[in-house]
This record gives sequence, C-alpha cells and structure tokens, in this order.
Amino acid sequence: MSQANTMDEIQKRRTFAIISHPDAGKTTLTEKFLLYGGAIRTAGSVKSRRTQKHAVSDWMEIEKQRGISVTSSVLQFNYDGFCINILDTPGHQDFSEDTYRTLVAADSAVMVIDSAKGVEEQTKKLFKVCKMRGIPIFTFINKLDAQGKDPLELIEDIENALGIRAFPMDWPIGCGKGFKGVYNRLKKHIELFDDGDHGQSIVNTVECDLQDENLADLLGQDLHEKLLEDIELLDMAGDDYSLDQILAGELTPVFFGSAMTNFGVEPFLKAFLDITQPPQPRKSNLGDVQPTKDYFSGFIFKIQANMNPAHRDRIAFLRICSGKFEKGMMTNLVQKNKKVKLAQPQQFLAQDRAMVEEAYPGDIIGIHDPGIFNIGDTLCSSDLKLQYEGIPQFAPEHFMKISTINALKRKQFLKGVSQLAEEGSIQVFKPRFTGAEELIIGVVGVLQFEVLEYRLNNEYGVEIKKQHLPYNYIRWIEQENYDPSKFKLTSDAIVAETEDGNPVLLCQYEWSIRQVIERNEGVVLHETHLRT
Ligand code: G4P
Repeated sequence: MSQANTMDEIQKRRTFAIISHPDAGKTTLTEKFLLYGGAIRTAGSVKSRRTQKHAVSDWMEIEKQRGISVTSSVLQFNYDGFCINILDTPGHQDFSEDTYRTLVAADSAVMVIDSAKGVEEQTKKLFKVCKMRGIPIFTFINKLDAQGKDPLELIEDIENALGIRAFPMDWPIGCGKGFKGVYNRLKKHIELFDDGDHGQSIVNTVECDLQDENLADLLGQDLHEKLLEDIELLDMAGDDYSLDQILAGELTPVFFGSAMTNFGVEPFLKAFLDITQPPQPRKSNLGDVQPTKDYFSGFIFKIQANMNPAHRDRIAFLRICSGKFEKGMMTNLVQKNKKVKLAQPQQFLAQDRAMVEEAYPGDIIGIHDPGIFNIGDTLCSSDLKLQYEGIPQFAPEHFMKISTINALKRKQFLKGVSQLAEEGSIQVFKPRFTGAEELIIGVVGVLQFEVLEYRLNNEYGVEIKKQHLPYNYIRWIEQENYDPSKFKLTSDAIVAETEDGNPVLLCQYEWSIRQVIERNEGVVLHETHLRT
C-alpha cells in the first residue's frame, strides 16, 4: 500500500488512556464507546457486564477477588471514520506507576468522575500522574441519572482539588430521573435524549436551538428558566474556551452524562474526536520522529506475563510511533542491538485478542516476549540507532526483605522475582553483607506486595518469608570513584545495589538524604531513575 494510505490511517488514529477512582464508571463508559462504535451490538445488563468486564480487561484472578483492576488493558474500535485505541488503567493508586507507563503510550486522557462524589482521593493521585505527562485531559462527569452534586459545585471541585482550570463543554439539563439532555455551549444548541432501552442500545437524540420557541414547553418552565440562568452565569464567570490550552493540558473540557443510560456519551465522543489530534511526533535521541516516517518504530511500555495461565505467555505492549507495521517484519531491538522478527503480533479488539496483519502509529500491539524485552525498549525497522525517551521508574516508598521458605525453590524464586521486576511492578535490590538468598523489594504502593506474593505462589509455586523494612526513601547514588567502604551513612540508612550493580541509598528519614550529601563529597542523589 502507498504512503498516502499510511497518512490516511494516521489521521484516523486517536489513542487515549482512561482514568478514574474505582466505581466512577470507567468500565461502563468504555463499554458504551464500544456500543457506539458498533463493536458490540447491545450493552449487557449489569450482571453480564460484570462477567464481560472480567473477560475483557481483568486478566488476573487477584483482580476478580479484589474487584479492582490491577493491570491495564488495551481495546480498539472504530467510530465515525476514526480508529480509536483505549488504554485502560488501574483505578487503584498503588498502581500509579503502571498508570504512568500507560499514559506515556497515550496521546490524551479521559478522566471519569462520579457526580455524587466529585473528585475522590484516587482521582487526585491519578490526575497528578496525568499532569506529569502534559497531555490533554478530558473530564466526563458520570451518573447524572442519579442524584448528584450541583454541576457548578463539581466544576469548582475539579478546579480546586486538581488545580486545573475547567471549561464545561456541555451543561446538564435536569438531573437524576429528570436528566433530559445537555446544552452544547460551543454550538449553542440543545440535545435531548430519549429511550436507549436503559442503556442497552443507542439513545435517540433530538437537537434543537436554544432560541426554539417550543423549548419552554419541551423542558418545562422551571428547567427552562434554570438552564437560561446557568448559561448566563457560565458565560459571565467561567473560563474562556481555548483549544491551545486544552491541547497543552492546562484546561480540561468537561462533559456531563450517564454511561449507564448512554445520555451524553455520543456528544462526548464527537467533541473528543473534534478536539484531539492524530498521533504527533515523538521525542527520541535523534530528535522528534514524525509518525509519517517511512520506517516502522515504536517503544515497549508494558510487559505482562501469564495473561493466559493456560499458555504461560508473556506479552510486551508496543506503542507504534512511526511508519506502517506489517506482520512478520524484521525489526531492530535498538537497546540490545538484536534483530527481532515480529511474527505473531496481537491486537485487542473489543472483546478479543486477534492476530494483526498491519498497524499504524497510535496503535498498540502485543508481541510475544521470549524474555528479551524491557520496558522502554525501542523497536525499529531501519538501522538507525533510534531510541525513544526513556520511561522513568518511580521511587519506591515501601520496602520489604524477602526470601523463599523452601530452599529447593530458589531458582523459581529468583526467576519469578526477576520476571515481575521486568514487568515493572516491583523493583529489586540486593542488600550488602547478606546472603544472596535475601532480596530487598521496593514498591510504590503496598498492594504490589500482595500481588507479588500471590503471583509467586500461583505462577511459580514459591512461598516466601517476608520482613517489612522501615525505609521510606530511596535515592540512586552517583559519585565519581564511588567506594562502598568509604561511603558515610546516617544510622537510619543503608546502601543496597540494583540488579545491574548500581548503588542506592535507602533511609528512614528525609533529613538523612541531606546528611549523606554533606558527608560524601561530590555525591549526587537522584530521585528517579531512567530505565536503560
Ligand atoms: P469502574 O470501572 O470505574 O470501577 O466502574 P464501573 O463501570 O464498574 O461502574 C461502577 C458501578 O457504577 C457499577 O455498579 C455501574 O453499574 C455503576 N454505574 C456506572 N455508570 C453509571 C451511571 O451512569 N449511572 C449510574 N447510576 N450508575 C452507573 P455495580 O458496582 O455493578 O453495582 P450495581 O449496579 O450492580 O449495584
């Protein structure tokens, strides 16, 4: 196919991550996108939706047990000539590093907020991660079919709690059982929704002008007056619409709706596609790489092992950044200077994994990983030594010493720990002066310890002994002529080593970091660490 075809495909692509506090309605909204895209014919009832939810995006047993989404999944669907990739993210803050990696692969983010709850604790934490990426953030205020907070209060809540300015793109007409539709502030028209078979199918929409003389009859006197008042207030007191600020992630466009009844879902989707841009150039060591380049390139942002316990497979998720991908193509794994044939690439379509023949910038493909890939690796079809910007590792905040209970299982223990570290969910350090049987594990959120224990047991048959360590801070040590025997510490601190032999400082108190800097000449202590 021609280069023109590739250009067309790129123009159609939109890739976004979806974030929310658990239960705000992320899964329901995702399902409704699929419904509107025609990828599924009817949305399930709550019960079958739940089963489907597990089938679609929750791979691990632990997720089912805990009712939280631990890892993220990827779905693709088409709507109105666009090809949309949704990257689901874990709702729990303990997995914010996983969320960050997913956001690196996304071009924008959609934040779902429960209208009865407003901004919740984990929305704040996930939003902070989102903000670090500087991508456009869209807000969908959900559950307008139920009694929620006042819309103006919700806007204020977003601005105050998250520190981002908000521009309501539409405004709800009525709420709870009386939620009838939305007023589109840019087009200055009204969209009234009807039917939708309790959210099972697409809703009927009636559009009319704000000036329509029948509007008062259609809405009822009270709602009509309230709407006119609200519009006046918003126009006078609110922020101005600015596309540039939205694209820079400084202003969040806000939409109201109900994922359950489908009210407001399509206006959101349409406006989202209107505003967002197709995949843009990506930063690399060779400068910005245009998606239209004639060579294929992309980077790995996530590795997931044992997604299907029956196959014990390991999949690396790759975000395509340039050129056209074709099944079976030879690529260069730049960081390892190794040729890799991408023989059985998979794509995640609605509810299934399917073999992919070709894919384009913005798409995410899953490639079989025989244990050679690392997060942050670049794959490229040309011989250029191209490397996309690294994906930083967050500083772990919780530490534990672990060893295997059964010494005969040592090999499986080390293999399991090292594979989980490669997936990026834990970081492994070797303590100095103790046997190689003990390892220090650092995690960003304590729930990751549970996942570690569960997976070592379930997937590798290893039971572990664990001991919590009192450290709260980690710093990567950089010092010319570093000599461990001369390095001066405080009494609450130790030095350990990363798997590749680099020294790290672990300490209980923040003041120790300053003390260690003062006591050791020329030392630099780094807070984050770029994967290499
Ligand atoms: P999540 O992925 O963000 O965790 O949320 P999910 O979609 O699973 O939705 C969480 C709960 O909120 C679900 O109920 C779902 O039915 C409900 N919900 C989602 N969107 C809406 C909406 O627009 N309006 C209303 N009223 N509810 C919504 P559940 O946990 O299954 O409980 P139940 O409905 O079975 O009692």
